[in-house]
Amino acid sequence: MSEWIKATEVTALQRRKKLKVSLGEVDIALFYLDGEVFALRDVCIHKGSRLSQGLLFKGRVICPGHQWAFDLRTGWVEQWARCQPVFPVKVEEGVVYIKLEPRVLTGPPGECASAEQAS
Ligand code: FES
Repeated sequence: MSEWIKATEVTALQRRKKLKVSLGEVDIALFYLDGEVFALRDVCIHKGSRLSQGLLFKGRVICPGHQWAFDLRTGWVEQWARCQPVFPVKVEEGVVYIKLEPRVLTGPPGECASAEQAS
């Protein structure tokens, strides 16, 4: 089980709403929405565009590559039934921490979907 790793100050994220951080060799896109922080793998599962350069819309991030809409909480893309890896996040005393344990849904959220550890 991996450790919580400091990613950024929450104030930096509150201002920009989105931020790319690199933890080791892993690029992660952080998003701030309605007081919550979400972390997805930055490199899109489709063709590798950067989600940190995407737009936030109705609880999703729209990939700048081909406009797939990833749910911020689950990483799920309804239209294509695929899932971007998401990372556990916690915020303590104004600091955002991430665990490098990416999860990928294998089915739609809420329909007995299971999460698998992403490689
Ligand atoms: S690269 Fe993200 S939708 Fe195509």
